[in-house]
Amino acid sequence: MAADSQNSIVDRIKAWALDHLDPVFRVLRWVKPILVLNDFALVTRFDHVQEVLARDDIFQVTYREKMERVTAGENFFLGMQNTPRYTRDVSNMRLAVRRDDLEGRIAPFVDDCASQIMAVSQGRIDVPWQLTRLVPTRLVGDYFGVPGWNEAEFADAATSMFQYLFYPDDPQVEETALAAAAKTRSYLDEVIAERKQNRGQHDDVLERCLKMQDSGLPGMTDLDIRNNLIGLIIGAIPTTSKCAVLMLDYLLSRPDLLPDAQAAARADNDALLTQYLLESLRFRAFAPGIGRLAAEDYVVGKGSLRATKIPKGAHVLAATQSAMMDGCKIKSPGQFRLDRPDYQYMHFGYGLHTCFGQYINRVQIPRIAKAVLKRKGLRRAVGDAGQVQSDGPFPVHWMVEFDE
Ligand code: HEM
Repeated sequence: MAADSQNSIVDRIKAWALDHLDPVFRVLRWVKPILVLNDFALVTRFDHVQEVLARDDIFQVTYREKMERVTAGENFFLGMQNTPRYTRDVSNMRLAVRRDDLEGRIAPFVDDCASQIMAVSQGRIDVPWQLTRLVPTRLVGDYFGVPGWNEAEFADAATSMFQYLFYPDDPQVEETALAAAAKTRSYLDEVIAERKQNRGQHDDVLERCLKMQDSGLPGMTDLDIRNNLIGLIIGAIPTTSKCAVLMLDYLLSRPDLLPDAQAAARADNDALLTQYLLESLRFRAFAPGIGRLAAEDYVVGKGSLRATKIPKGAHVLAATQSAMMDGCKIKSPGQFRLDRPDYQYMHFGYGLHTCFGQYINRVQIPRIAKAVLKRKGLRRAVGDAGQVQSDGPFPVHWMVEFDE
């Protein structure tokens, strides 16, 4: 067979597999749970995925180079290995982004912001464009203290930088993302400088960072604050928007679940809505998994029948989407259940680099969805407009209608 036609068959198999990840993962979990092909390894079972993500010394993050291009200098903590610098930066930002803010500050802000948007939407809303992108952008404005030079462009900038950092190389995405990064850096420089002239007017993440700077805390120069804010903005906006759309799209595709989800929304049962979020994302994953690079030869599942050596230099995909469907660990994985224990979910990663925003996510995403779910007569618009339209990995348009 000619090399060209062989390549096109391989490409077609790859494209088919990407469109049918759930069945592919199901077969792999039983037949070849740790698949090693040259310098690529795919890990599909729950325990093995957690083993990879827990061994951050062996399976290392790979984002440094791109991160340094986005900041035009220093790395951001997601791109760092487990170093003293990582601990310093994460600890500093945890002092500024506090779990204590969830209940009194973040939850009411998101509730108000989402319900105000719904109140003026007159029976029809473009969910990603008019709601799910806007709420996290406004939260970043209010809580982080950086509202952006223009909401839509700010959200676009965060989205393109995210795509550049976490998806395969694409020259066009890179060009857009690096231009967005330059614009975001100079915007943040201006905001930080302006804030330093007007201290004590706000209680937000930026003001708290400046207070830490006042006290001489290492890792809190203007440039450090800018780098940390860039990383958080990128992590916060496109992810939240996509997860809220995935949750709502899934629930609208399940007429058997929708009435109860709507009843939970109308009762403001936020804890139950968080369970709806976590379970919906198991069926509509944010991403198939998390990438790592093997720094050493390492045997995953050592001592078990499935033990497999991953060679040094291999690119590893820890398939969290597959892990959360692993029947060895997850009871009746094909069933939608609201009583699963929290540890069975890995939407926000696992181990050292577990999402910095994980607790914000559990509060923000269900509350955005709640504002939509409360509406009576909720339905997709007819035709293509009623189906989620994406630009690359992120939803951009999706029309939903309601009666009141
Ligand atoms: C809303 C949906 C979100 C999802 C699905 C999500 C997902 C993730 C995942 C899977 C990781 C681990 C990456 C890895 O191990 O390579 C991660 C890390 C991270 N996320 Fe999120 N994230 C979300 C929202 C947020 C928000 C709101 C913020 C900021 C407030 C944020 C900031 C971060 C940061 C800074 C890290 C790196 C943590 C570290 O290195 O210790 N994320 N996120």
